[in-house]
Amino acid sequence: MKFTGYKTIIALATIVFSLFNCYAAIAQINNSSIPHLIRQDNVVQLFVDDKPFIILGGELNNSSSSSLTYMQPIWKQVKSLNFNTLLTPLSWEQIEPQEGQFDFSLVDSLISNARQNNLHLVFLWLASWKNGMSSYPPVWVKRGYKKYKRAVIQNGQTQEVLSTFCEANRQADAAAFGALMKHIREFDGKQHTVLMMQVENEVGILGDSRDRSDAANAAFNAPVPQELITYLVKNKENLVPEIKSQWAQSGFKTSGKWEEVFGKGPDCDKLFMAWNYSGYVNEVAAAGKKEYPIPMYANAWLDGGNAKPGDFPSGGPLASVMDIWKAQTTAVDLFAPDLYASDYDERCQKFTQRGNTLFIPEMNSSDDGARNVFIAIGKYNGIGVSPFGIDHLSDADKSLFTKSYSILQQLSPFILKEQLKKQVAGFIVDEKTPVINYEMNGYRVEISLDELFGHRATIGYGVVMADGPGSFIGGGSGFRVRFFPLEKGSKSIIGIDGVTEGTFNNGEWVPGRRLNGDEDDQGRAWRFASWQVGIEKCSIYKYE
Ligand code: DGJ
Repeated sequence: MKFTGYKTIIALATIVFSLFNCYAAIAQINNSSIPHLIRQDNVVQLFVDDKPFIILGGELNNSSSSSLTYMQPIWKQVKSLNFNTLLTPLSWEQIEPQEGQFDFSLVDSLISNARQNNLHLVFLWLASWKNGMSSYPPVWVKRGYKKYKRAVIQNGQTQEVLSTFCEANRQADAAAFGALMKHIREFDGKQHTVLMMQVENEVGILGDSRDRSDAANAAFNAPVPQELITYLVKNKENLVPEIKSQWAQSGFKTSGKWEEVFGKGPDCDKLFMAWNYSGYVNEVAAAGKKEYPIPMYANAWLDGGNAKPGDFPSGGPLASVMDIWKAQTTAVDLFAPDLYASDYDERCQKFTQRGNTLFIPEMNSSDDGARNVFIAIGKYNGIGVSPFGIDHLSDADKSLFTKSYSILQQLSPFILKEQLKKQVAGFIVDEKTPVINYEMNGYRVEISLDELFGHRATIGYGVVMADGPGSFIGGGSGFRVRFFPLEKGSKSIIGIDGVTEGTFNNGEWVPGRRLNGDEDDQGRAWRFASWQVGIEKCSIYKYE
């Protein structure tokens, strides 16, 4: 009797144990990690379903995703343009029409539609601010202006803009965002359609360099918060140059009011606003991350030219104030430029300062944009790019962008592998910069404007990377590649074994023409003709 009982217990335990194992196995299948960022050797990659992923995105016009009917034709259109991700506005007013009453039906339908079309989403949380203004808060916030206080600018003008200095504003926004992220976790925590969240849109004060409400004035005349001073002191040698030189004006003072520490003027005001916007945005992001910690970012309307703080939103997450934002934004993973400026490369460089991960949520969809994506991804290891207003793209814009995205989509696995070894070159060559040299795969790799029988292309662009010893793979248009030994004074000559064009079909290489004769300048160069945008493989050998 005693013996049988013991056997029964063992049998039951075995069943429970196997059931548990079985459950654990199923759970593991369904529970690949949620989207997250991993930094390895100073390269940050976005992991989706435990694999690195490059966002080939497109941002919708502001109001498109407010209507499912309006969206119906857009899903297919986007897919046909080789996008893998849609940046999709979500407005606070639609999600919390009455205080504390949430309606997530639109969110669920957008996610379901994205899944049906095999697309991912990045949601843009348009809440307290969008382009510096506050048109997206619900009516109960807009009308409740006595509780949800507004910013005041010069001459005492109250703005239709929520003030960062009002606790009720912060709490209401953070509570709504927290509820949204809880819902997204429940609806999408296993399928990972939603990859990231943009928190607010292009924050900052317009029309003045700082908020001049009573609460803002009190904070401005109080000592600079110790938390910020501690950060600045700790990072003094590595601060972005703009902050360092501004702080240097006071001899790097470590206490005092804002103007005592950073000097008087609009640039001081900009730092003050950056501290206050970053604190607010971080609180909203943190409330969301507590529920569902996928990557989150803040985007910036860029400065430039003679624009003064207030001409552009003062206090937004610009490269020039990155350290102020970094000092307290533990829940914000990266600062992203809305990059319409023509000095694309330099702006990318600025937004990779201080270890910032590059993501471009908005940019031009023109031919320039279609070339620039190779700079963001191939040169600066961007985790993604996204032209703006993709539901209204002209056919001309669609054409080149679609080709760039096709190349990037096919080459993403190679880029993601080789960027960890610093073996990827993303470039544009033009009349100003006709030749660029790289050290790659044990060779000097010279990339230049393509040229044949005296006819030179005017622009070339693309990506080239190592593909095993003596082998390279690349994609793009209008450039040629030559190889040289690295060793100084070496007499070796690097010859071309062969060049093949082709495509990747679900990761499988499908070779096309063997490129020889004029197509590789009689063996003198690996060419990417300017009349097409393609992928080619090249292998080389060395002779003395
Ligand atoms: C930048 C904003 O972030 C977008 O929402 C949109 O307003 C574009 N500007 C328009 O160019």
